[in-house]
Amino acid sequence: MREMTNVTCIEDLRTIARRKVPRAFFDYAEAGAYSEQTLRANRSGIEAINLRQRVLVDVSARDTATTILGEPVSAPIGLGPVAMTGLEYGNGEILACRAAHDAGIPFTLSTMSICSIEDVAGAVDKPFWFQLYVMKDRGFVRSLIERAAAAKCSALVLTVDLQVLGQRHKDIKNGLAVPPSLKIGNLINMATKPRWVASVLSGRRWTFGNLDGHVKGMKGVKSLAGWVGGQFDPALTWKDVDWIRSIWPGKLVLKGILDPEDAILAGKSGADALVVSNHGGRQLDGARSSISALPKIADKVGSDIELLFDGGIRSGHDVLRALALGAKACLIGRSYIFGLGAAGEAGVRKAIDIIRKEMDVGMALTGVNTIGEIDRRILSD
Ligand code: GLV
Repeated sequence: MREMTNVTCIEDLRTIARRKVPRAFFDYAEAGAYSEQTLRANRSGIEAINLRQRVLVDVSARDTATTILGEPVSAPIGLGPVAMTGLEYGNGEILACRAAHDAGIPFTLSTMSICSIEDVAGAVDKPFWFQLYVMKDRGFVRSLIERAAAAKCSALVLTVDLQVLGQRHKDIKNGLAVPPSLKIGNLINMATKPRWVASVLSGRRWTFGNLDGHVKGMKGVKSLAGWVGGQFDPALTWKDVDWIRSIWPGKLVLKGILDPEDAILAGKSGADALVVSNHGGRQLDGARSSISALPKIADKVGSDIELLFDGGIRSGHDVLRALALGAKACLIGRSYIFGLGAAGEAGVRKAIDIIRKEMDVGMALTGVNTIGEIDRRILSD
């Protein structure tokens, strides 16, 4: 694809994805909740952190390799869970998982994916992570956990910050609220994206793969989405985390911790890691930026539980900033979704490659060779 040859940064991928992906799905991935104040704070908070330029240090032995949850990775990044990835590009979950695995980093499949757990497991040869939403129907939750275990998923990422859904205005205007009502304007917009139409039509599914055929009496995207909308559980508590811990045998990650007190509880919960996250600015509008929460949480629990981070990572320099403030690794969401929308699997590879190369140069210019050396000393005021 000609337009990919000039791609030098994540923003370029975003520009191409914006042209190629139907507006409703592009906006779905990009939007934040309500006024998008927290969405913007995630970015401005990261940009306000200065890296510390060092010179005349031998940086000829640079290596971005490290571990996440005890597993070796080529770089401290993973692909975070994103709903409806298979509608950003046909078979998007499978393509993104392949790109991540080839790059030596983890991929997380969302509960609200288009390709199912089994679809992805059948198409890749390494274990991936599975993100879990706890629905009111605990029998269904148990069956999802069992399916993830049967598919040999290597970690369960439990989302804890979505007991109710933060409103994203654009989704409603685009008819992509839950339940969705695809408006005629959307259909016309889709018709102007022939490559997207071809990719999605060649995909295995156009509905929520993990739910379709698994929820009794539900068929088709509209009734499933309606079911899901009523299924997020506002009564979810730490007791449910205990229950999940007791039935999930593998690594458990709690995603969506922003407050040090919650981090302390997470540390005591038996989870292996937590993700410092405000859900990419998509839930509590007015919440603090994810990056500003990170050092406070690291100070409290950094030695008790592995800290992952997400929220506004658009470059390798951003990854370095989060690592300096206490993260073991960063999850990227929109950054890879833009790559996927721009060019499918090749676009996801490109996104990962961009971030890895930026990290490498950033390490050189801050005077470090290994991930283990990165701490607050690579920051300046
Ligand atoms: C789902 O997790 C969303 O943020 O839309």
